[in-house]
Amino acid sequence: MSTTPTQPKKVYIETQGCQMNEYDSSRMADLLGSSHGMVRTHTPDDADVLLLNTCSIREKAQEKVFSELGRWRQMKEKRPELVIGVGGCVASQEGDNIQKRAPFVDVVFGPQTLHRLPKMLDARDSRKITLVDVSFPEIEKFDFLPEPKVEGHKAFVSIMEGCSKYCTFCVVPYTRGEEVSRPFDDVIAEVAHLAAQGVREVTLLGQNVNGYRGAFHDGEICSFAELLRHVAEVPGIGRIRYTTSHPLEFGDDLIAAYADIPQLVSHVHLPVQSGSDNVLAAMKRNHTVADYRQRIQKLMAVRPDMHISSDFIIGFPGETDADFEATMNLIAEIGYDHSYSFIYSKRPGTPAAELPDPTPEADKKQRLHILKERIRQQTQRKTEAMLGKRERLLVERESDRYPGHLIGIAGNTRWVHFPGDAGLIGKFVDVDILEVASINSLLGSAPVIMEA
Ligand code: SAH
Ligand code: F3S
Repeated sequence: MSTTPTQPKKVYIETQGCQMNEYDSSRMADLLGSSHGMVRTHTPDDADVLLLNTCSIREKAQEKVFSELGRWRQMKEKRPELVIGVGGCVASQEGDNIQKRAPFVDVVFGPQTLHRLPKMLDARDSRKITLVDVSFPEIEKFDFLPEPKVEGHKAFVSIMEGCSKYCTFCVVPYTRGEEVSRPFDDVIAEVAHLAAQGVREVTLLGQNVNGYRGAFHDGEICSFAELLRHVAEVPGIGRIRYTTSHPLEFGDDLIAAYADIPQLVSHVHLPVQSGSDNVLAAMKRNHTVADYRQRIQKLMAVRPDMHISSDFIIGFPGETDADFEATMNLIAEIGYDHSYSFIYSKRPGTPAAELPDPTPEADKKQRLHILKERIRQQTQRKTEAMLGKRERLLVERESDRYPGHLIGIAGNTRWVHFPGDAGLIGKFVDVDILEVASINSLLGSAPVIMEA
């Protein structure tokens, strides 16, 4: 007698917001794969479990949570066995309120309790009540996650959780808890595991990675600069990125690392938020424009081809025309390559939410428009400046646009199409840049140097 094998259950995970959330979502999928044999599906229609990994950094993101849940409620009315979970920063902030507004939600978990998801789902099955766990159990999370599954040649590695900076506009310290670093051995073991499976490029993740203070097994503390040196020694790791770093802890040791670690890309995301000392002080960023400028100058002395990107908040309460002009001046001076820029969004419970904010919304929109246009021009100029240069690329895949070509990604994140054989995918090649194809893509020669 033959038995029909039972189909694995399917989980659909929708991710809002940042790279940290992307990372957490893939770890949720790994976790439910190893605990319940679930497979990840890319459509909610055939899923047994729907998970929404939420973001609360700005009001718009938060509003999207309940509209998406409204759609999922309709699906659950047709398929009552559907299990719905809400995780991430909105879950962390709202806790029980999620279930009050959306009683059809089965489990609510925070960024630091996602590892408890399998147990919560089981308990939900047997008890039929909504379970809420949005606590911050230190760094327990990583002790309960399976080894990450690898897809492709690039991977994220979380090295720390949370943030203790308490910028006056930001919810992160409240939703993700204070900074906690993963132990050094755990980070290196994860990088080695990834490299052994063919990963060539890692992006180290955290809210302020340069505040990393991970314990070595003897209890000594490892700095971020030291960690980078060890990651670079893992065989196979050809390229290292990290995000995000805070100007305050961008120390000389980190700058020196750029002199000795060739795998560190010549691109750094170093958010300044504003080019005005008044605004920086009101944001409680704890540094001045001059401090920031000095860090960048030192960095450029070590790596003259460094590309710098930033986040900007436009229309922070009390930002004047003169403050905005100071931001525009800094943008021109630093020559930012790109930015993530948004109008200030008032977040309940943060100190800035109490500040008077007289600037009309239309003025803020106008400022944002001016800023984005300037940065767009700078991106274009930096792309054009690559013409005639030799660039190292990590080969990503075949190009759809140019038959017989591959796409490789340069250190500064530009896409380069070049003629080559699919066997090069996942390897590093050096090509000469021949032509600009768009604001962030180029055409290159056949590889001049390639890995064996
Ligand atoms: N740890 C990082 C930033 C994390 S939040 C750092 O120190 O830079 C990511 C970005 O969201 C911030 O850099 C900021 O530009 C933006 N952001 C955070 N809170 C915001 C708010 N209330 N309104 C608008 N943008 C905000
Ligand atoms: Fe937010 Fe400032 Fe930390 S922007 S994540 S409180 S460094």
